[in-house]
Amino acid sequence: MKVQLKDITMRFENMTAVDRLNVTIEEGTLVSLLGPSGCGKSTTLFMLAGLYQPTEGELYFGDRIVNKIEPENREIGMVFQNYALYPHLTVLKNIMFPLKMAKIPKKEAEERAREMAALVQINHLLDRKPSQLSGGQQQRVAIARALVKKPKLLLLDEPLSNLDARLRLEMREEIRRIQQEVGITTIFVTHDQEEAMSISDKILLMQDGKKQQFSPPQDMYDYPENHFVAQFLGNPPINRLSVKLGEDLQTIVLPDTEDSLHLGAPLKSNGEVNMHYELGVRPEDFYIEPDLAKAGFTVETIMVERIGRDNLLYARLGQTNLRAIVSPDVKVNRGDMVKLAIRPGRTHLFDLSNGKNLLHHEG
Ligand SMILES: Nc1ncnc2c1ncn2[C@@H]1O[C@H](COP(=O)(O)OP(=O)(O)OP(=O)(O)O)[C@@H](O)[C@H]1O
Ligand SMILES: [Mg+2]
Repeated sequence: MKVQLKDITMRFENMTAVDRLNVTIEEGTLVSLLGPSGCGKSTTLFMLAGLYQPTEGELYFGDRIVNKIEPENREIGMVFQNYALYPHLTVLKNIMFPLKMAKIPKKEAEERAREMAALVQINHLLDRKPSQLSGGQQQRVAIARALVKKPKLLLLDEPLSNLDARLRLEMREEIRRIQQEVGITTIFVTHDQEEAMSISDKILLMQDGKKQQFSPPQDMYDYPENHFVAQFLGNPPINRLSVKLGEDLQTIVLPDTEDSLHLGAPLKSNGEVNMHYELGVRPEDFYIEPDLAKAGFTVETIMVERIGRDNLLYARLGQTNLRAIVSPDVKVNRGDMVKLAIRPGRTHLFDLSNGKNLLHHEG
């Protein structure tokens, strides 16, 4: 089911938890709501669930406005962080519970519950009580229970945050598999960027109740529309250098050096030049330029650290610390001066007066 938020706003007394959100979620896709604590993710999900009524705006399920529809009539399934299974019921009875409430005959209810148990791969655990299950297994039961009424929308609020790192990894792949098998439109709340990057068709990144960007994960990573998006995604984080913009609007001058850099792409600027610009370069978008005559900027090596297949170079340019992912074949030592260059099309330039990324890139 297609879901649309039109100018959706939620205010609690004096504070605006969600601020004029406009988003269209296409049928059958998985969208992650991502952002720092308190940015309005759960509030948004609760409005979709019907637990909160938006202060303003319209919420569409398909072409129907559902603002006033009760949660039980919205055809949604929900899974929360704390599984919320009934401790006194067996796994099978837990999954059957929503059908029992809907007065579905017992035989049919049991059949459908077994089908769901097979989907989430817990058929061998049906007679156990929740306390006899691992966290991951409990979350599988919760997902089966959320899907058993064949809802049109699945809402997941940080469903993996009680699991240890390895199980999180396994369960996020499972959620994606189940979502694709059922083909259900799904909204997944997380504050974990890696989780959002790995399972989503699109990410809605929020801050202070406002949409920052709504894009497929790779687009968001490669073409961040603003400064917040650029620095929220990426580990190690994007490098940030405060720079001056040349009068030609085509070159930037790096801090504490005479080095300048041609931007190589037109600026999305309105022509107003102000004082505060920041160059953003992801660590993997640097490379060491052996030819000192070529464009780049000279940095001093602080430390080189092996990270898996690559090396992480810690360097300094004047007062600014930088991190670059470089090939382990390159031998550099503390104190060495090296020339860093940026891969073509991988430069970001932010206007700090409004945070916007001023460089035109694809996407
Ligand atoms: N019932 C409420 N009454 C008053 N303020 C609320 C209420 N629910 C949420 N808020 C406030 O709204 C803002 C958004 O809260 P929300 O729970 O949506 O954040 P979140 O993005 O889910 O955060 P987290 O990652 O910590 O779960 C917060 O500042 C929160 O304090
Ligand atoms: Mg929350």
